[in-house]
Amino acid sequence: MSNIICICNQKGGVGKTTTCYNLGAALALNEGKKVLVVDIDPQANLSDYLGFEPDGQPTMTQLVMEIAVNGMIGMSKVQSAVRYNERANLHYIPSDINLAGS
Ligand SMILES: Nc1ncnc2c1ncn2[C@@H]1O[C@H](COP(=O)(O)OP(=O)(O)O)[C@@H](O)[C@H]1O
Ligand SMILES: [Mg+2]
Repeated sequence: MSNIICICNQKGGVGKTTTCYNLGAALALNEGKKVLVVDIDPQANLSDYLGFEPDGQPTMTQLVMEIAVNGMIGMSKVQSAVRYNERANLHYIPSDINLAGS
């Protein structure tokens, strides 16, 4: 059984990114949970914290575009967008600035 936790607030600078990173790392490192962090903020600060660097694989931008165009997306494409940060033991799907135009 999986749980989805959404951290969202229209206001900037209120601790969304910090909460997401620390809550995710605490669940993964202290509680032994398998955690997938999904960055859907085009500012992509969370992706930066997790050490993301463009590598030619899809980000949230490509996933959103594919859903917008086709109305659906294959699981293999979603899986190819998942990266891993060893220090925080977090799997994550990164965002990038192009998501702002999607
Ligand atoms: N609990 C906290 N106590 C003090 N400073 C915090 C706390 N949570 C976040 N911050 C600081 O507030 C600033 C904004 O946090 P951030 O997580 O980037 O906000 P958001 O993602 O909502 O824009 C950052 O400099 C961060 O280090
Ligand atoms: Mg943020």
